[in-house]
Amino acid sequence: MANKDIKTLLADLDKIETDAKDKIAKIQDLKDLEDLKTKVLGRKSKLTNILKNIKNLDKEAKKELGSSANKLRVNLTNEFEQKTKNIQFKKLENISKEEAIDITLPGKVNRQGTIHPLTQMLHRAEDIFYRMGFEVVYANEVDDDYHNFQTVNIPEGHPARDSWDTFWTKDGHIAITHTSSMQNRILSAKEPPIRAVVPGRSFRNEATDARHEHTFTQIEGIYVDKGITFADMLGTLKTFFSEFFEQDMDILFSPDFFPFVEPGGMISLTCILCNGDGCDVCKKTGWLEILGCGMIHPKVLEMAKLDPNVYSGFAWGFGLERLIMLKSNIEDVRHFFSGNLKFIRQF
Ligand code: PHE
Repeated sequence: MANKDIKTLLADLDKIETDAKDKIAKIQDLKDLEDLKTKVLGRKSKLTNILKNIKNLDKEAKKELGSSANKLRVNLTNEFEQKTKNIQFKKLENISKEEAIDITLPGKVNRQGTIHPLTQMLHRAEDIFYRMGFEVVYANEVDDDYHNFQTVNIPEGHPARDSWDTFWTKDGHIAITHTSSMQNRILSAKEPPIRAVVPGRSFRNEATDARHEHTFTQIEGIYVDKGITFADMLGTLKTFFSEFFEQDMDILFSPDFFPFVEPGGMISLTCILCNGDGCDVCKKTGWLEILGCGMIHPKVLEMAKLDPNVYSGFAWGFGLERLIMLKSNIEDVRHFFSGNLKFIRQF
């Protein structure tokens, strides 16, 4: 090849360089860049062709063109590499911009469920009694005849057993009819003063209607110490109901019979639906019967090895469902165990 050819070839190299750099600068896509690289540096490219033919040049020309062509090759390879990195970086940058999480947006909160009204109100009642100095003891749901009946002064064959429609198991155990089943255990286990409330599910084998359920939540309470009087009982219950209903509540005691208390009776509350004026719910009396209570029978104390000449106390038991029905104006006790979410979600 003549020297003139070298000049042309050097000019060709220049042109290859400017052309390539021009195009690289404009490309935004990795695939396009890859194609361009094949065109500029690949086996069939002008540059490769020039490099291939260098061997036919004389020594001087070989040196000059060879070094320029190789430099250009390295130079362009670097350019391609750099551009590849740029495109990749931009891509990542876009992803982080497009997919970024805006932590200043308000969150979407899915409804996760609510606490069942019975549980909510049980906590509320427990809290009130706790602040009055009562501890909370939970009842066994299944117990024996001895604790459910005998220790609360209802021996076998006692006619009062008929007052509780009882579910018996085949081996003679009982789905507790009341949480008085825990009285003897609590009175035997501790030294007075004894103050405890006993929540627990209780069971009655009876037909259900708007006011009666076979399963309900009873809260029993006992208080035993020296010198505890009937007035202490009335004061304790009035305080509890006033706290529970968040208004001053009047209570009415009327005598009734339970074998484990003497005197025993029922407590009624001012009907909060009519404020005591008389309505259909309170049968025009202005009062609603809400719990059984009384002074603990001496025999019950004796069975727990407490001397009735030294100690006295009172006990009560009420159904939590009844209280919630009054507080939230619920017309049917069966809602509580219906599993009806529409009902439950209101609380
Ligand atoms: N255990 C009684 C019932 O279930 C309620 C009660 C408890 C009455 C304590 C008096 C004293 O009917």
